[in-house]
Amino acid sequence: MKKGELELMPLSITSAIGDVALLVHSDAIQRGIRVALDIDPQLPLVRGDKVQLQQVVLNLLLNAFGAMDASTSDRLVTVTANREGEDKLCVSVRDEGHGVPAAFADQLFRPFCTSRCDSLGLGLSISRTIVEMHGGRIHARNNADRDATFSFTLPTEVERA
Ligand SMILES: Nc1ncnc2c1ncn2[C@@H]1O[C@H](COP(=O)(O)OP(=O)(O)OP(=O)(O)O)[C@@H](O)[C@H]1O
Ligand SMILES: [Mg+2]
Repeated sequence: MKKGELELMPLSITSAIGDVALLVHSDAIQRGIRVALDIDPQLPLVRGDKVQLQQVVLNLLLNAFGAMDASTSDRLVTVTANREGEDKLCVSVRDEGHGVPAAFADQLFRPFCTSRCDSLGLGLSISRTIVEMHGGRIHARNNADRDATFSFTLPTEVERA
């Protein structure tokens, strides 16, 4: 993906998250997973490519779903979006799964790193490329054996008077 291929427009990350939450709604119900949204209603816009940012949120949600199996008692995924400082916002996806396997912890964002036999292991690598091309950062916070939180930041649009 090259920079020129991104279509950057002012957009609401809240609506991008809402679209993806709708997309995975029936999958979540089938798997007995609740998706809670905790989004600052005053979030500023970002400058981004909506489809690409939806892809990032979709991968984080599907990863979170995949991290919670039958032994997970509280199958809850929480998506949070808040301002971070003056000129950024931060979106986090937290699950109640088993955390990232230690063997993967430092390779998560590399291509073809996967613990699944039916996946390519490209989701986080592509997500990192997309986020960084938007001027943001993505990282994982792993609470071993309990849960994982994946977060990304994005610069917010400068408000014009
Ligand atoms: N929320 C999570 N909890 C525990 N492990 C995770 C979580 N998210 C990602 N991982 C680990 O990181 C690996 C890489 O994730 P990534 O999204 O890059 O690939 P994938 O989901 O395996 O495949 P793809 O996204 O290409 O379908 C996963 O296989 C899994 O081992
Ligand atoms: Mg994935």
